[in-house]
Amino acid sequence: MKKSVKELIIHRKSTRNFSKKPIEESILNELKKQGQQSKALYEAISVTFEISKGKEITKKLGVTTGYFGKLFEAPHYLVAITDTKEGYQENMGYQMEQVLLAAQELQIGTCWIAVIHHRQQINEFFNVPRGRTLLALSPIGSEVEPFGYKLLNRSKQSEPSIRKSLDEFVWIDSWDRPYNESKHGSLDGFEAILKDAKLAPSWGNEQPWRVLIEGEQLHLYTIPFKKDEESFNPHKIDCGIFMYYIEALAKEVGIESNWSRESVTIVSPKNFQYIATLKLNRD
Ligand SMILES: Cc1cc2nc3c(=O)[nH]c(=O)nc-3n(C[C@H](O)[C@H](O)[C@H](O)COP(=O)(O)O)c2cc1C
Repeated sequence: MKKSVKELIIHRKSTRNFSKKPIEESILNELKKQGQQSKALYEAISVTFEISKGKEITKKLGVTTGYFGKLFEAPHYLVAITDTKEGYQENMGYQMEQVLLAAQELQIGTCWIAVIHHRQQINEFFNVPRGRTLLALSPIGSEVEPFGYKLLNRSKQSEPSIRKSLDEFVWIDSWDRPYNESKHGSLDGFEAILKDAKLAPSWGNEQPWRVLIEGEQLHLYTIPFKKDEESFNPHKIDCGIFMYYIEALAKEVGIESNWSRESVTIVSPKNFQYIATLKLNRD
């Protein structure tokens, strides 16, 4: 990528209205390459990205997927299939977001869609082998303005969606000490990193990430997913995207770091679920 990750993150947004015009083959090949080269969060998990015709996907998935069972019409769809080993949802967020940022750099619109319901039938339909699952999709195409938009006199297709402030999702040393800018300052550069990382997309824009900073370690938690009956938790995909943003933004300002799952003993309030810990690589 030529643009910085920071620049891409600041300008990204979901696209939901696509031109019917197919994307050039060379661009689709570039996206496939980005998928193959994307860095995994957990290397033991294998993810494959395929690009399918938009019509095939909307026909196969019907009304089973997307908010309110709605998939967008687009000339192509990126389809992501993964092993279902521990951490696979976070890994998907971390890896697929790299492809979506590459698409953004190529001025291609995308929108995250997670397969939440009817996964067994969908996997059978796509011939996904046991031990793997079709977890996420994104329409791919050029953005167009929705019909009638100009008549409504709107200047932009969509306003940037709102994000929480740091004091709503960051705590320092313990869960009764929310981050306070005047008291805690720049957090050795992590305040700026978190302010950009919080622009990450998330399911329903719920921004489920919760961060506890303890010395040089950053522990990441997620809020529980309210639809308890589902074994699947899309918030973990959101956390994976957030993890990629933090690590990549830190790298751009010269801070090398990596995520790992630790045996963290800090009991969290409100059933927050532990995801992973970021540690700085000092040498
Ligand atoms: C895992 C995941 C699943 C999502 N599923 C959908 C979806 O089914 N339909 C949709 O319109 N947007 C979906 N989104 C997009 C979010 O609604 C969007 O990221 C959020 O509202 C913030 O807006 P922005 O991406 O424009 O910044 C999803 C996002 C994520 C990360």
